[in-house]
Amino acid sequence: MPQLAEKLDQIVPVSSPTRTHFANSGTEAVETALKLAMHATGREKFIAFFNSFHGRTLGSLSLTSSRAAQRLGFKRQALDVVHVPYPNEFRNPFNQADCGDGGASQGALNWIEERLFKTTTPPEEVAAIVVEAVQGEGGYVPAPKDFLKGLRRICDAHGILLVVDEVQSGMGRTGKMFACEHYDVQPDIVCIAKGIGSGLPIGVCVSRADLMDWKPGAHASTFGGNPVCIAAALKTIELLEGGLVRNSAEVGAYLKAGLERLQKKYDCIGDVRGMGLMLGVEFVEDRVSLKAAPELRDRVETACFERGLIVLGAGANTIRWSPPLILTKENVDVALEIFAEAIAVSV
Ligand SMILES: Cc1ncc(COP(=O)(O)O)c(C=O)c1O
Repeated sequence: MPQLAEKLDQIVPVSSPTRTHFANSGTEAVETALKLAMHATGREKFIAFFNSFHGRTLGSLSLTSSRAAQRLGFKRQALDVVHVPYPNEFRNPFNQADCGDGGASQGALNWIEERLFKTTTPPEEVAAIVVEAVQGEGGYVPAPKDFLKGLRRICDAHGILLVVDEVQSGMGRTGKMFACEHYDVQPDIVCIAKGIGSGLPIGVCVSRADLMDWKPGAHASTFGGNPVCIAAALKTIELLEGGLVRNSAEVGAYLKAGLERLQKKYDCIGDVRGMGLMLGVEFVEDRVSLKAAPELRDRVETACFERGLIVLGAGANTIRWSPPLILTKENVDVALEIFAEAIAVSV
């Protein structure tokens, strides 16, 4: 087994033995997962979630639903994908009857089992459920604690594959190597990109070995698996295991505590959420109405930039904190000071 595939076999949360396909980007890793799920199950329907982002090529774009601009002009979606509201615990999209005692998580699971499966989407025709353990572009929204286990149960009951897109949340970002480790769940297929190459273009799809039994020619890429990117990924994993995942957890907790202090001070911070160095700060008009404040978010983003701190929006009214994993507590102190000042001048 090639060195990087062997290393990934040890660290991904998919049950070993695994097989790996090397590509050049996140969207290609997702395309691989989609093709593989269709090939392995003989089915062609997919379930994905509103506000998700999985890429911009035609297959992954069929899943992506975080902004209409990403779809506009590209006609009907290429794949047969049905979308379910993501169980956002801060803005629970489900009604009480759907949720019972189980909150947003139960609402989403019931939506799949009671609505989709009984009306438009027979489970025996579904190849895979594709999910981000922490929604990235959609607003840095972590899945509720028991949600991925619920999806695992549904998948197991119906021979559906569970694909977790870790393109943004993987490689130490959340304080564990992969975000789905926070949820103690084993997907059948994991998609990885972004952080694994430390800036070089590499995307990876890792699956249970028994699923990836397609014949030579079924799927390939000219540049996928090139030696420069593979070397970058191996070195990156060495650094992550050598301390950066731990740093992400420790400095991330320090940053989160600082953001929570700011939340107490500023009524316009509705929610501080996330794990490790994948944290979201959601801006609202006030904490009683919880009305989204996208323009305030944009003003804060600009005020940070003017003061030397680059932060980026995610979703309509959230600022994402997704700094390099080498961040120190001293860096955090400076960043929080700038962030507080940016809020103060923007409200
Ligand atoms: C969760 C997720 N999946 C897939 C992608 C697509 O990755 P790429 O831009 O490398 O194609 C992204 C990019 O932001 C992402 O956040």
